[in-house]
Amino acid sequence: MRNRDAVFLHNKEFEPFLNEHEIAAAVSRIGDRISKDYQGKEVILLGVLDGALMVLSDLCRVLDLNIRIELIKLKSYTGRQSSGQIRELIGLTNGLAGKDVVIVEDIIDTGHTLEYLLKQVDEQNPASVRIASLLLKEEIFRDRFPVHYHGITIPNRFVVGYGMDYEGLGRQLKQIYALKETEHK
Ligand code: IMP
Ligand code: MG
Repeated sequence: MRNRDAVFLHNKEFEPFLNEHEIAAAVSRIGDRISKDYQGKEVILLGVLDGALMVLSDLCRVLDLNIRIELIKLKSYTGRQSSGQIRELIGLTNGLAGKDVVIVEDIIDTGHTLEYLLKQVDEQNPASVRIASLLLKEEIFRDRFPVHYHGITIPNRFVVGYGMDYEGLGRQLKQIYALKETEHK
């Protein structure tokens, strides 16, 4: 699977993009801000599976707060593109009323997934809802709703690793890799 620093998934080549230190620093920045903003409160971290698996597990360990974890499993991506259609594979439980909720995402691209999820969460009347995402693809997302906590803004490239996949592969990688530009057909 590896060739020097490159990674091959389904015969596509991915090059190193963000290393473990950069990822850990971004998670820790997000964690510090959340700990400060919610000091003395209990927060529900709502992780969006599968992609947010790694960031959720690292983020919850740097928070200086009492937290509960809730999970939802959504799918919008097929291959390397957002399909625009959201499928709910594991739904929300009903425990969000009156709670402070922080949605935890790996990456925000078009924002369709979050738009869908925000509607679902709002229906339960939480006390507050904020969004935390490790990565933000700024070019595509265009500020359609506030992302209170984001780690790193990236150009419009397809990335894998640290929870993110290409057709199911690559989630376990410790670093984040970007599809080589020459592979974009
Ligand atoms: P959105 O609905 O277009 O904002 O994309 C939502 C989800 O698609 C993200 O939470 C990711 O799980 C996945 N996704 C978006 N961009 C990428 C990428 O570059 N690589 C892998 N997964 C991605
Ligand atoms: Mg995701």
